[in-house]
Amino acid sequence: MDIAVIGSNMVDLISYIDHMPKEGETLEAPDFEIGCGGKGANQAVAAAKMGSKVMMITKVGDDLFADNTIQNLESYGIDTEFTTKVPRTSSGVAPIFVDPESRNRILIIKGANQYLLPEDIDQAAEKLKICSLIVLQMEIPLQTIYHAIDFGNEHGIPVILNPAPATKDLDFDYVCKCDFFIPNESELEILTGRPVDNAEQIQESALSLIKRGLKNVIVTMGSQGVMWVTREASQTVSSHKVAAIDTTGAGDAFIGCFAHFFVQNGDVLHAIKKATAFATLSVTKRGTQISYPSTKELEQFIKMQV
Ligand code: RIB
Ligand code: NA
Repeated sequence: MDIAVIGSNMVDLISYIDHMPKEGETLEAPDFEIGCGGKGANQAVAAAKMGSKVMMITKVGDDLFADNTIQNLESYGIDTEFTTKVPRTSSGVAPIFVDPESRNRILIIKGANQYLLPEDIDQAAEKLKICSLIVLQMEIPLQTIYHAIDFGNEHGIPVILNPAPATKDLDFDYVCKCDFFIPNESELEILTGRPVDNAEQIQESALSLIKRGLKNVIVTMGSQGVMWVTREASQTVSSHKVAAIDTTGAGDAFIGCFAHFFVQNGDVLHAIKKATAFATLSVTKRGTQISYPSTKELEQFIKMQV
């Protein structure tokens, strides 16, 4: 097994809107799509699409979405041995609103994801031990995230933490035990309490985490590209210019693809470049997982840029 994603799955209910209704207003929106999402599942799918062997430790409800979610993961070749159902609980769902400028607003109802517990990690221990990388986000209980970080540290498995959605409750002692911390700008702002209005501020904010003992901070900055900050250096990979249609799940696309290439040969910069292109391509199509490119599409796109 290459990668273990311990995290969420959600059903994305995406409304494409002209603008948000005001209180008490009924407004017609042009379009709607339903798709498989959730930050954990999106990242797992991105890595699997690139060819990694991925397992997902996650919980679904016992509603009409549950079997479909499991089937969807399996359709990408993701190992679902530790994807389990929670009785009398709804699956995670995410009503999402995307406006004509491709900006999104996302509500999440965690449902079954709240019941992914430390003991679920212990149950998967034998399989988890032989993974090369653990990938975490924050749509599951913090205790489970901390347990996963400890597990990774105990077994010498590198850990990526994507602090999304960000909460100030996140314990920085645990953050520092991760090998890669990958926030976007707004998550970085929430977590450090520092402004992130320009590249300099973003770098300073990332450095404040490095000073606390973190090894790698990788900040995803949308169309501004990606900044990688370590104790030694800071560098920015710019993103390719495209017409954005739907940016939902682009951060997850980056993380899953980064995880794949990092596991391949440990070359961080190379993985950042590939993942930036992968995430960029994902914003040119509607939806989350469904918008992720194939290896072939990714390589063609990268060739076109040179
Ligand atoms: O990051 C995008 C994801 O956030 C969506 O797929 C939605 O399900 C929420 O988890
Ligand atoms: Na997309």
